[in-house]
Amino acid sequence: MHAAAVSPAPRPLVILISGTGSNMQAIVRAAACGRWAERYGAAVAAVISNRPAAAGLAWASGQGIATAAVDHTSYPSREAFDAALAAAIDRHDPDGRGLVILAGFMRILTPGFVQRYEGRIVNIHPSLLPAFPGLHTHRRAIEAGCRFAGATVHRVTAELDHGPILEQAVVPILPSDTPETLAARVLTQEHIIYPRAIERLLRGA
Ligand code: GRF
Repeated sequence: MHAAAVSPAPRPLVILISGTGSNMQAIVRAAACGRWAERYGAAVAAVISNRPAAAGLAWASGQGIATAAVDHTSYPSREAFDAALAAAIDRHDPDGRGLVILAGFMRILTPGFVQRYEGRIVNIHPSLLPAFPGLHTHRRAIEAGCRFAGATVHRVTAELDHGPILEQAVVPILPSDTPETLAARVLTQEHIIYPRAIERLLRGA
């Protein structure tokens, strides 16, 4: 874990990941291309993962972004892990003015954690919520005979994969689809709608 806390932006964006972090990368690129620092005073201040080996951490670090790992396996309870995670987030957003962005972050958060960041914590889920909350969304959508699937950006509430919807994108499900091919089609849309939803939040729209 990096020791120093540096958050020059008035609105730090702290992104939580568990794996590849392709959504995180899309947000980092959008922040640069869209000049979020200049326009909204917002910058990606840190990328934090519950998995120390997450590929996205190395990518972020290569971009000069502060990274931290808070390994959930090192904590005796969800509460203890969430407390450590909150401390890592707050180190990069000491004034509590930024956004906490869950981007492929595969941990269930305690209600206390969600409450702490109420109104400024968002998530992306690879289904058209409220359909298919939870895991294995693509397989479940195919098995249910759905003709369409998609992704949802939503505010985070205490209930898993619920909360007010900010953006959605729809893709067709083709007869030849496997969960993998459908996941890839949905993911390309995630990379579009997540940065768009965050920019709208920053604009206050
Ligand atoms: C995305 O489909 C996200 O919606 C889901 O996990 C995947 C993570 O992808 N929760 P990435 O780590 O952003 O590449």
